[in-house]
Amino acid sequence: MKSPFMYGKIASGETFTDRETEQRRLSHNFTSRLNTVLISPRRWGKSSLVAKTGFHLERKRKNIRFCYLDLFNVRSEQEFYDYFVQQILRTSSSHWEEQLESAKRLLKRIAPKFSFGVDPQQDFSVSFDWEEVKRKPEEILNLPEMIGRQKKIQIVVCIDEFQNISFFENPVAFQKKLRAQWQHHKLSTYCLYGSKRHLMTELFENKSMPFYKFGDVVFLDKISEEYWVTFIVKQFRKTRKSISEKIARRIAQQMENHPYFVQQLAHTAWTQTTKICTQKELQESLDTLLIQHAILFQREVDNLTNSQINFLKALCSGVEQFSSIKNLRQYDMGSSGNVNRIKESLVNKEIIDITEHKIDFLDPLFKTWFSTVYSKK
Ligand SMILES: Nc1ncnc2c1ncn2[C@@H]1O[C@H](COP(=O)(O)OP(=O)(O)OP(=O)(O)O)[C@@H](O)[C@H]1O
Ligand SMILES: [Mg+2]
Repeated sequence: MKSPFMYGKIASGETFTDRETEQRRLSHNFTSRLNTVLISPRRWGKSSLVAKTGFHLERKRKNIRFCYLDLFNVRSEQEFYDYFVQQILRTSSSHWEEQLESAKRLLKRIAPKFSFGVDPQQDFSVSFDWEEVKRKPEEILNLPEMIGRQKKIQIVVCIDEFQNISFFENPVAFQKKLRAQWQHHKLSTYCLYGSKRHLMTELFENKSMPFYKFGDVVFLDKISEEYWVTFIVKQFRKTRKSISEKIARRIAQQMENHPYFVQQLAHTAWTQTTKICTQKELQESLDTLLIQHAILFQREVDNLTNSQINFLKALCSGVEQFSSIKNLRQYDMGSSGNVNRIKESLVNKEIIDITEHKIDFLDPLFKTWFSTVYSKK
């Protein structure tokens, strides 16, 4: 039987839960043509939320289309333009002949070159003379708006891992070009999202940056415990297995309501269970996950300095005032200046997340492993 839990892919259909308020907020933004900036740590559900909202809106309204780009592997401005055009054309029409026609008509000043595979429907791409694009990037950046006007559709351009543009050669100059064009768009709407909180907030909340006040900034939360309890109980029941609310709650609590890890632990518990999932099956599942990840976690710790490890020990023990004289001494963390450097490097290594209210491990499984291993030392 197929597991009713899913992790590592976009959550959709019955594996998607909650997020009603966020879906409403995004839908409202998209239909009001308000740009959106969505920020959360890794694997909290940004891509799933945008995909779900897009799926519903496309079904409800004929004149709205979603275009998805993921900048995960995009490393230069030039690559960005090629990819942007390709995805916008694909969104505008499912027929390659029509895409070709739009590209010829709308991009003629930058001399597009076309290439076709054996099956052009699957394998049709456009590339450009880079010198031409550098002179007239607006031709490309205005493509969603031009197509939208001609076809009387609204294209919502969703760009995942947007913070990656910070690694392009002249990031601020590039952002200026995007903003200069996109701010005039009346039809096209932009949803920009990413997981590196500090890079994303720098792009959108720093007054001196081009994307300052570009749109509604949404900080995505985890999914609340009550939703997880109902979801886990329901998914077990659907597959003729059972779990009590109490044990389901422990799954959510163990993984601190983190969407990816709650689904992963629930999946493992479901696999371990023949009929009823009790504390025994839950504990076995957690042990299985810890064993599976031990080598990876050990490697992660091998890359840390002693004072970084000491900082994590303090964090596990519930310390909040890292720079107090008592804690600096007890955990051997050097000076308070050193604590700031430790925090910065642990954030960059994506081990901890620092918000206004607190500092926490990003990965609740790593936290469990770390506190088990280091409480013995
Ligand atoms: N609404 C949801 N309901 C249930 N599970 C969810 C939901 N959203 C996310 N998840 C779980 O979290 C996992 C990660 O979701 P997703 O890929 O959407 O996150 P992300 O924030 O885009 O991650 P990344 O930063 O790695 O791109 C999913 O595979 C799924 O297991
Ligand atoms: Mg994602």
